[in-house]
Amino acid sequence: MLNNTEFFTVRVAAKLALTPEIAQFELVATSGQTLPPFAAGAHIEVQLPGGLQRSYSLCNAPSENHRYQLGVLHDTNSRGGSQAMHTQVALGDVLHISAPRNHFPLAARARRSLLLAGGIGITPMLSMAWQLAADAVPFELHYCTRSSAQAAFAPMLEQTPYRERVHLHVDDGAAAQKINLAALLNTPETDVHVYVCGPQGFINAVMTTARAAGWLESQLHMELFNAEVISAEEDAAFEVEIASSGQVVKVAAQQTVVQALALAGIDVQISCEQGICGTCLTRVVSGTPVHRDQYLTPEEQAANDQFTPCCSRASSARLVIDLGPI
Ligand code: FES
Repeated sequence: MLNNTEFFTVRVAAKLALTPEIAQFELVATSGQTLPPFAAGAHIEVQLPGGLQRSYSLCNAPSENHRYQLGVLHDTNSRGGSQAMHTQVALGDVLHISAPRNHFPLAARARRSLLLAGGIGITPMLSMAWQLAADAVPFELHYCTRSSAQAAFAPMLEQTPYRERVHLHVDDGAAAQKINLAALLNTPETDVHVYVCGPQGFINAVMTTARAAGWLESQLHMELFNAEVISAEEDAAFEVEIASSGQVVKVAAQQTVVQALALAGIDVQISCEQGICGTCLTRVVSGTPVHRDQYLTPEEQAANDQFTPCCSRASSARLVIDLGPI
């Protein structure tokens, strides 16, 4: 069994264009061994050409241990990650990846699950659907895309044993097939869980509708793809001090903490650079962060003892941070 705490090498065993914008990758261990196991909703970090690192959800059945499948959208607003996957990663290439990590697990003992996917947000839902089907837990998978041509995984879903649980909703189709969130989420039920993944607008629509209908926060689970990177005109410069060394680094108004530290020769591991994944999570010893992430809960943010330096800032003149492991 491979070590599941470190990066290891895999080979691209298949790369398939599902649509002009979405490619499916199949990764296998270069060692010929089985891959570290994963649970539904998990993702891996992939190190890409050019020093980038990005996280991608695993979309195959968690029972499979011979491959990881990823679905990657070639985002025209890409900061390099999806572009590198599409244009620089080829069949047979060797990639360094992390063991699977999971910030979006299925709730234990759910009586029924509603999986709501917007666009490429379908990817973690696929592994969830495989797991729920294997566990014989009732579920519905609602897959929403702008057009049927963009429903990259629809043909594959039609071949699955759980195809009757899948509902495809396309924006350019007949009114009757469009998703009706108010009707779908109308009645909160005990032990039923709702999972949503996709762009911010889609998640906001689902969460707003569900909360208005009275669903409990503990029943609602979300994973964001492509957060809006918040920057504000009034962003001010501040300093960060490294607790272990006392080194002080100035962060300019238009710089992120990660960028300022990198210029000072201090590397912080990053992935999404949007406050989604938590890879850069750093302990705060003193000072007051301004949280701009979607990763920490409101309670965790209010504690002000950790922050995401890829996007979050400080309202105090200085933030003392501890770069040791959290
Ligand atoms: Fe993902 Fe900072 S790199 S939260």
